[in-house]
Amino acid sequence: MKFTVTELLTKKKTRQKLTMLTAYDYLFASFVDEAGIDMILVGDSLSMVIQGNENTLPVTIEEMIYHTKIVTKATKRAMVVADMPFMSYQISIEEATRNAGRLVKEAGAHAVKLEGGREILAQIKAITEAEIPVIGHLGLTPQAVLRMGGYKLQGKLPEQANRIKEDALMLQEAGVVAIVLEVIPSELAKEITESLEIPTIGIGAGPYCDGQVLVLHDLLGLFERFTPKFVKKYANLREDILKALKDYKEEVEKGIFPDKEHSF
Ligand code: KIV
Repeated sequence: MKFTVTELLTKKKTRQKLTMLTAYDYLFASFVDEAGIDMILVGDSLSMVIQGNENTLPVTIEEMIYHTKIVTKATKRAMVVADMPFMSYQISIEEATRNAGRLVKEAGAHAVKLEGGREILAQIKAITEAEIPVIGHLGLTPQAVLRMGGYKLQGKLPEQANRIKEDALMLQEAGVVAIVLEVIPSELAKEITESLEIPTIGIGAGPYCDGQVLVLHDLLGLFERFTPKFVKKYANLREDILKALKDYKEEVEKGIFPDKEHSF
């Protein structure tokens, strides 16, 4: 059975935990889907993980459409959520709606994710009115890295925490179907989760959220440029891959590969 917005909201009501992971291509998306993960996020983190950029700001709507298209091709059950990249929704309500529509119409996304609170309510309402499910994103919003001055814990001070709580309620009111909470104190995430009828999906926001999301390449131990405290590595594939490549090089150089078994 396909995982849709209906299942998303049912899981909140029945207190079942939600799972979400990023994927940016056909092969990894098919692994995530086969593993039974509820939602695949085609995150703008692909800017760093796939494109080698310093932050998420350079990735374009065309690139998000390309990656989302190949992810949806691989997906049988999971709900595919496409990130709206920096400057694809900030400029105007019209541009935001058009770009959200492209992610659905051209790439097959089932929902879109936008970063921000009260400042983007009009865009969220317009996209929702166009019948496209929207997921919000509060706390550490990586597209605001220049303003935030780095990737830092958000909501530590009471005024900051209150603003995030208020924003969460405003996003719910505007029609979002879930909210990603990134790098905020666990107790704040708990309060927000308890105050909402829609689910929260945490990343670095502790155990009380309705679900969890991680960057797949972090979880698999593939992306080593930096590893935030909240990442748990469930595998160390970088080491396995490097070993396989070095073994191949050595065997070719020594004339061990190809042997009889691998020749005609
Ligand atoms: O782009 C991304 O991968 C994200 C997650 C970190 C939530 O937005």
